[in-house]
Amino acid sequence: MIAKMKLNPASRIFGRLTLPGDKSISHRAALIAALANGVSTLTNFATSRDCESTIACLRKLGVEITHTGDLCAIHGREKLTPAGSPLDCGNSGSTMRILAGVLAAHDFTSELTGDESLSLRPMKRIIEPLELMGARIEACDGKPPLKIRGSGSLRPITYKLPVASAQVKSAILFAALGASGQTEVIETIPSRDHTERLFNGFGVPLITAVNPAGGASIRLDGPARFAARDLRIPGDVSSAAYLIAAAMMLPGSDLTLLGVGLNPSRTEFLSVLRSWGAEIITTDLHSELNEPVGTIQARAGPGSEPSKDQRTIRGSVIPSLIDELPLLAVVGSQISGGVEIRDAGELRLKESDRLRATTVNLRAMGAEVEEYEDGLSVVGPAALRGARVDSFGDHRIAMAFSVAALIAVGTTEMVNSECINISFPEFFDLLERVTAG
Ligand code: S3P
Repeated sequence: MIAKMKLNPASRIFGRLTLPGDKSISHRAALIAALANGVSTLTNFATSRDCESTIACLRKLGVEITHTGDLCAIHGREKLTPAGSPLDCGNSGSTMRILAGVLAAHDFTSELTGDESLSLRPMKRIIEPLELMGARIEACDGKPPLKIRGSGSLRPITYKLPVASAQVKSAILFAALGASGQTEVIETIPSRDHTERLFNGFGVPLITAVNPAGGASIRLDGPARFAARDLRIPGDVSSAAYLIAAAMMLPGSDLTLLGVGLNPSRTEFLSVLRSWGAEIITTDLHSELNEPVGTIQARAGPGSEPSKDQRTIRGSVIPSLIDELPLLAVVGSQISGGVEIRDAGELRLKESDRLRATTVNLRAMGAEVEEYEDGLSVVGPAALRGARVDSFGDHRIAMAFSVAALIAVGTTEMVNSECINISFPEFFDLLERVTAG
């Protein structure tokens, strides 16, 4: 059934919330725990459908997992066992790409499938390095389904990432656990570093050498095995982003989010909003297995006039903002001078073509948008009006335009809103809890 959701404007956002666990960290922690020596207990595990896909695949691969509420107890095993039938990764690119790295180092054949959207996403980016390491992978014109013939004796490689992708980096590092010798991944543009932090946290040391020209080189000596650990997963900062953006755009708002992940490779979004006038304070800073965590307080700041530079998002900062760009286009429509986003062609390869989806929906709501092959520009400030918008089956588009609906005049109708379950099933409930009409 295709759900249509009616969304009304709000006057302000007010309250305190704790958010479900970070999706990227949950995927990685589950995979690591599955391969660790002992039982790991992960609390505040993500409630997202994507992370359920990872758990379901691991169970099929012989891992014993008790998952109740937000608690996940994972019994690690030295080796996974063949699944016997295709592993369904659902909508989750992280599940498919990172699990492919894990399975490349297992001496059996596995098949990975996905839903309609995942079946259109590029996999050559992981196939190439994993084949260089000695796995054999069949795909359909570079896309899923994937048939992976793993190997118990992979070769270490030195690999320069042709595309800035944390999923690709992670696939190689997971495969490197089963290779004899040193694997080195070189990234010229930094991407999220949860894999590196968690490997170190779970007892597999990685050496990261930061390149003064940008990016880093990450080295792992294989073979290596994790030690089980308990971990409280920080709240998902990419989910927090929608609520923070709403608080910034609705005057008189005051929102506190407790225990949110503040990994610098994920918080560039907060810096952009601050440069656009938001008042964002972080307190209670601490760390959970190398992952920085804290409380975020967000308020609308005094009206500001950001410079052209502050309103142009391009270059090496793009991977650190990749999931928040559609939302920044929405917020940018309210900024004096608007926003321009470039060098973001990767957005066309996500769960939907996010440049197209953002353009179509912003235009439907009355904004003036120019779409480029690698980005878009939005004229601001724009008076948004309620309209019929489409999630395009993409959770981040659904949430970005739910936020747009809060600042529009009139009611917005969202087609296909149920896809928010992919990352943040509690989104509409929590939004309702903190919004005043
Ligand atoms: C993710 C990395 C990013 C991001 C995705 C999650 C991860 O993808 O868009 O939502 O957990 O590593 P890419 O690595 O393809 O950029």
